[in-house]
Amino acid sequence: MFWQVATVAWLAASQGPGAAAAPAVVATSPDGRNQIALTLRDGALHWAAARDGRAVVLPSRLGFAFRGAPALGDSLAVTAEQRAERDTTFAMPLGELARVRDHHREVRVTVTERGGLRRSFTVVARAFDDGVAFRYELPAQPQLGAFEITDELTEFALAEDMKAWWIPADVPSPDRQEMLWSSGPVSKLRLVHTPLTLVGSSGVHAVIHEADLDDYAGMYLQGRSESRTLRASLARWKDGAAVKGSTPFRSPWRTVQLADDAARLAPSVLALKLNPPSRLADASWLRPMKYNGIWWAMHVNTATWGTGPQHGATTANTKRHLDFAAANGLQGTLVEGWNRGWDGNWMLTGGTFDFLNATADFDLEAVAAYAKAKGVQFIAHNETATWVENYERQLDSAFARYARLGIRAVKTGYVGDTVNPLGHAHQSQYMVRHHRRVIEAAARHGIGIVMHEPIKDTGERRTWPNMLSREGARGQEFNAWGGEGGNPPEHETILFFTRMLAGPMDFTPGIFNLRVTRSGTGVPRTPLDARPRTTLAKQLALYVVLYSPVQMAADLPENYEGQPAFQFIRDVAADWDTSVVLAGEIGDYVAVARKAKGRDEWFVGAITDERARALDLRLDFLPAGRPYVAELYADAPDADWATNPEAVRRSRREVTSRSVLPARLARGGGLAVRLRPAR
Ligand code: NOJ
Ligand code: CA
Repeated sequence: MFWQVATVAWLAASQGPGAAAAPAVVATSPDGRNQIALTLRDGALHWAAARDGRAVVLPSRLGFAFRGAPALGDSLAVTAEQRAERDTTFAMPLGELARVRDHHREVRVTVTERGGLRRSFTVVARAFDDGVAFRYELPAQPQLGAFEITDELTEFALAEDMKAWWIPADVPSPDRQEMLWSSGPVSKLRLVHTPLTLVGSSGVHAVIHEADLDDYAGMYLQGRSESRTLRASLARWKDGAAVKGSTPFRSPWRTVQLADDAARLAPSVLALKLNPPSRLADASWLRPMKYNGIWWAMHVNTATWGTGPQHGATTANTKRHLDFAAANGLQGTLVEGWNRGWDGNWMLTGGTFDFLNATADFDLEAVAAYAKAKGVQFIAHNETATWVENYERQLDSAFARYARLGIRAVKTGYVGDTVNPLGHAHQSQYMVRHHRRVIEAAARHGIGIVMHEPIKDTGERRTWPNMLSREGARGQEFNAWGGEGGNPPEHETILFFTRMLAGPMDFTPGIFNLRVTRSGTGVPRTPLDARPRTTLAKQLALYVVLYSPVQMAADLPENYEGQPAFQFIRDVAADWDTSVVLAGEIGDYVAVARKAKGRDEWFVGAITDERARALDLRLDFLPAGRPYVAELYADAPDADWATNPEAVRRSRREVTSRSVLPARLARGGGLAVRLRPAR
């Protein structure tokens, strides 16, 4: 007997009072708290999810619309059902956790059309202690060979009008995901990106996202006016198709992370569990790193990417940055503007970017040799301006050359409009395929990728640990530009509970000159316009709060000279054995503790929004009974992001696992702490 009548009360209740229990197949998480159910309603397969016996997602539609073929999703009968339970643990070569346990229960339900084409599909659903997930599989079948999906019919019918933290996906250039976050009821949403973080009246937190986006279109969520139901909406090829494929085929996972409160949303590893194991034969060459670079100068307009008197990427200037990195224990130096193609309006002429050859004032061989001698990695920058065909043509030869020169990390960039010059959306299947090609080419040549204006993170780093980090959110660069006024003080306290749940971010923290004024633009500025709206202590705390195995010391070398607080950037780790969120509320504050990989050393970062705040941080994550020395970099009593951002106080004290560390955070402030065993 395949089809088991559900005994779960929440599912029957969701069908209205007095409704007969519908047949359903249910997977329950190992801790018994999360459930995902698959059920037929009027011949259509639906999914639903609950936590602690309360529906979070009501029965929601599943299926596909195709070009040139009838939609698949109605008049279905269940033709097979399977169950499984798995409990495995895998290591992350780089990560916010060294090891991830994947313990889940799974149900697979195959449905077949009762008439017409008699096509079949399977839905695989898994329940974990940290959420639920499902994916579609389209088995090989004569009636469904090559196909074009025009719409995925998946819905997320939320049981209540949850509060959503969202960024829009229907504004100009939305796919870079560099907008400011808003919050409000789901019933007011239009088109939004994932991860989408939702808060229910009971305090339950849910995050809708996707995992293993491998050969499919990126998913947005489409709201309907005054409705609690969100619908999957797929990024498109130029010709309007969403997904092109042929059977056998499987979709990415649709994931709903579930937690009791905001603090328990991170570290978020659901997507890692839903990606295939590592395909990197040897990951031993991968290194976490802190890096500086020829970068901020261009954003504050004191240097240019293009050649000329202000050119940033000269041989001499690069050597100066490499010297600084070597002298300060930074493992890498990023150089932007070293290659040919930046002169003029590079966004329009991006099809002529040359990734092999340097400008006349930049000696690539000499710089690479100098970097090697200094023990610093030269991070090559590849801005494509979304002219991806031009990039793909050079990919293998460029990466082969980099590898020969000892270059082990590349920062890619996709500054472009909503659609690339070929007309495909930034998060389309076309671009998903492109990014996979880049990651795989990099893997072949022993190169790690830091991607800007990326495809969203769906956990690829498990399969390809050389996918080091990416942007895909509003980073520090906005604080240099002004105009829109930079990031508000609450920005990073939202990022932590939204974008960061997808994976690492190259935010580029560490600006010490907090009164930066962008020169030479001719745009009149108010004093608060273009500058980070944080204190210096908060810039330090971001190294711990915003996880990335590559962390930039983003400011100009001269701005670190004579700054005692720079010691924290020298000391802080970028790769971790474990991570613990000590406290946090979305958009207000967050405090995180992380243990350095393979070392008896912990770091704590706490940040607040525009409000000053006092937090008592319990250090019970430390091993019991052993004294530690805490080095604190705290906001001075008179610190304030707007009026006195540089006022940071360094102090030391002895602590144990029983200590409570008082954190006094200024407006826009933070606290950064290093904890080492006391001798
Ligand atoms: C935008 C990226 O985010 C930034 O880091 C880079 O400097 C510019 N594009 C130029 O590629
Ligand atoms: Ca960017």
